[in-house]
Amino acid sequence: MVKSYSKNANHNMRRPVVKEDVVHYMRTKQKQNEGHLAELEAFARQENIPIIQHEVVAYFRLLMQTLQPKNILEIGTAIGFSALLMAEYAPNAKITTIDRNEEMIAFAKENFAKYDTRQQITLVEGDAVDMLGTLEETYDFVFMDSAKSKYVVFLPEVLKRLKVGGVIIFDDIFQGGDIAKPIQEVRRGQRTIYRGLHRLFEQTLNHPDLTASLIPLSDGLLMLRKNAEHIKLD
Ligand SMILES: C[S@@+](CC[C@H](N)C(=O)[O-])C[C@H]1O[C@@H](n2cnc3c(N)ncnc32)[C@H](O)[C@@H]1O
Repeated sequence: MVKSYSKNANHNMRRPVVKEDVVHYMRTKQKQNEGHLAELEAFARQENIPIIQHEVVAYFRLLMQTLQPKNILEIGTAIGFSALLMAEYAPNAKITTIDRNEEMIAFAKENFAKYDTRQQITLVEGDAVDMLGTLEETYDFVFMDSAKSKYVVFLPEVLKRLKVGGVIIFDDIFQGGDIAKPIQEVRRGQRTIYRGLHRLFEQTLNHPDLTASLIPLSDGLLMLRKNAEHIKLD
C-alpha cells in the first residue's frame, strides 16, 4: 500500500474540473479577440449563434500555430467565425468549410468576402451528408462542429480523407454531462444525439489505429489522431 498519499489526497482529482467560476476565469483571462474576430464573436453571442466558446478559441490558436495544418476541413461554418480564426492562426492553410443553412451561408459569404484577405477559405454549400463524398482532397486537420448525432455517420468519409498523422476535433461531445448518465435519465428529445455520440465513442476511443482524447473544454472536445492509412470501423 502506498503511504505517501492519504485517502483524501489529490482532492481536486475527484472534483469536476470545469466549474462555472473556472469557465468564467478561462473566458475572461485568456487573450480576447481583436478586430473582425472580436466583432464576429460579439455578433454571434448577441444573436445566440453557437460559435465556439472562448476557451476553445484559445486552444485553437495554439493548436493551429503548433500543427500548422496545410489543408483543413470544417463541417459547420455558421457565420464563418471558426474558419476565419483558423485562417488567421494557420496562414498557410487552405480551408474548406461546409454548411447547409441558407441564412448562415449568407453571413459566412459576406464575412469571407470582407475578412478572408489571403483567400484561404472555400465555402461548400449543402448538407455534409451529400457534400462529403464530393470532396477530392485530403486533409491534415478536420473540425467537426455540425449536428452531433451525425458525427458518427460522417466519420468513415472523414477518415478516408484524413492523412495519416492528421487530427480530427469534434465539438460539444459531453452534451452538458448527459453523456455520462444512463439513457433513461436523458430527455427523450436528446436521445438520438446521446446514442450517436456513444456510438462515436465506441468506434474511436479504444481503436488500435486511432489515438483519442476527451478534453473538457466548453461542452467537451473529442480529439483523434489517425495512425494508419486504413481505419477499419465496426
Ligand atoms: C455550431 S454551428 C458552427 C459554428 C462554427 N464552427 C463556429 O464556431 O464559428 C453549426 C453549424 O453546422 C451547420 N450544420 C449542422 N448540420 C449540418 C450538416 N449535416 N451539413 C452541413 N451543415 C450542417 C448548421 O447549419 C450550423 O450553421
